[in-house]
Amino acid sequence: MPLPPPTPGQPAVITGASQGIGKAIAFELAALGYPVLLVARRGDVLTEVAAEIHRKHGVEATTWPVDLTNRDDRQKLVEHLADLDVPILVSNAGFVTAGLWHGRLDPAQERAEVELNVVASYDLVLAALPKMLERRSGGIIVTGSIAGNAPVPITTTYSATKAFLNTFAEGLHFDVQNRGVHVTLLAPGIVRTELVSGPLAKSPAFLWASAEQTAKATVEGLRRNKLRVAPIAAHKIQSVLANYLPRPLYAKAMYRFYGGR
Ligand SMILES: NC(=O)c1ccc[n+]([C@@H]2O[C@H](COP(=O)([O-])OP(=O)(O)OC[C@H]3O[C@@H](n4cnc5c(N)ncnc54)[C@H](OP(=O)(O)O)[C@@H]3O)[C@@H](O)[C@H]2O)c1
Repeated sequence: MPLPPPTPGQPAVITGASQGIGKAIAFELAALGYPVLLVARRGDVLTEVAAEIHRKHGVEATTWPVDLTNRDDRQKLVEHLADLDVPILVSNAGFVTAGLWHGRLDPAQERAEVELNVVASYDLVLAALPKMLERRSGGIIVTGSIAGNAPVPITTTYSATKAFLNTFAEGLHFDVQNRGVHVTLLAPGIVRTELVSGPLAKSPAFLWASAEQTAKATVEGLRRNKLRVAPIAAHKIQSVLANYLPRPLYAKAMYRFYGGR
């Protein structure tokens, strides 16, 4: 079953669309003719991105500024999505924390990370899904990470949130495969965006994908209803290693990599 064709008034919805991977995916979908609804906190930046998309691709680009960690504010978007006929949902907004629990990590920030990366993503998928199932067509991209394949100490909360997303998206893919709905997990390694810092930022060039490469591979993956997208060869190899190395060995190596002693 192909993806729903672009239809005026029925926008593809992209969270985390003000920069990085989400912004690149918004451009990629707009290039295919989809109107887009851009979601993130910074309304002024979203407005600029929307104008740029409209100028470049001629599609309608609207914005929905919201802090997705705020349950009340998020609920308004959830209700809006439930009303719309969303052809494609890209649940991508997320952030990462790093550090050790004794002293450095802020429990409120860790909880916010779970709220955004996991709960908001879950809420938005569940809001858009019923209409997709009803009309037997639709596409959902969930941005997880290789960091969700196995524990990554020192980014423990992040890694655990991505484990949820990886497992949820890959399970959902099969749940709805006979109902015309495509579900693709984007599980990249390192992508050149503002999210990356610390030891990871010093990684050799061959491990990095650009946001544009990632967006292209992801949208093509969704079109083909691929289970999982790792945008470049190096990410595919890392993904296999993270899946098949013994978990204690992998976790210990990651602990050392992030400076744990
Ligand atoms: N970059 C990588 O190496 C990498 C690797 C694997 C997975 N990922 C995942 O890819 C996704 C996108 O990350 P990125 O690399 O593109 O990072 P990014 O450049 O930091 O973009 C994050 C996006 O999420 C939005 N956002 C953050 N907090 C939000 C909140 N509370 N409510 C609503 N929107 C919020 C940000 O916009 P505002 O600031 O305007 O809200 C921004 O648009 C994330 O889920 C990340 O975990 C990234």
